[in-house]
Amino acid sequence: MASKKARRIRRARRQPWWQQISGWVWALSLGVVLMVGGLIAAAAGETEKSIDPTSPELVAQGQVIFTETCAACHGPNGEGDIGSPLNGSAHAWHHMDNQLRSVIRDGIPNTQMVGHKDHLTDQEIDAVISFIKTWWTPERQRMQRTGRHPMG
Ligand code: HEC
Repeated sequence: MASKKARRIRRARRQPWWQQISGWVWALSLGVVLMVGGLIAAAAGETEKSIDPTSPELVAQGQVIFTETCAACHGPNGEGDIGSPLNGSAHAWHHMDNQLRSVIRDGIPNTQMVGHKDHLTDQEIDAVISFIKTWWTPERQRMQRTGRHPMG
């Protein structure tokens, strides 16, 4: 019995070091791969969820809604009038999608920007935002999407 144990130990000792730790290395690599994969998936999910300004259908739908509902105050090209410019010259692009959604849905208290939730569905509000985004440079679109931009 004792000799059996001794043989097992001897056999284990004979294994080169890389064979002995290979299990750990393998597990560690798997962990790293899973982590990186998870991060990539999270990043992809983030862009997927952000309102897409490159979908022709969404943008076209948004343009109609903007012209009918928003242009009177924000200008036909978003250049601003009674309402702030939305064309990228002011700071509308500093708000992330959810902030823009809630401004359009619920309005800004004590201003002429009233909420539009009574006559626009969530889908229509997203369409308007996608149209507004087409005025922004790719750089501003990226900063708006990630929420990383110089303050101002
Ligand atoms: C009756 C005029 C009026 C209409 C119609 C209107 N807005 Fe506004 N909007 C304003 C005003 C005024 C402000 C600025 C409020 C303030 O003082 O903060 C504003 C602000 C905003 C902001 C925030 C801009 C920023 O830089 O923070 C967004 C986004 C916006 N409007 C989108 C829309 C959209 C989209 C529509 C159409 C569905 C719309 N508005 C219709 C008057 C209007």
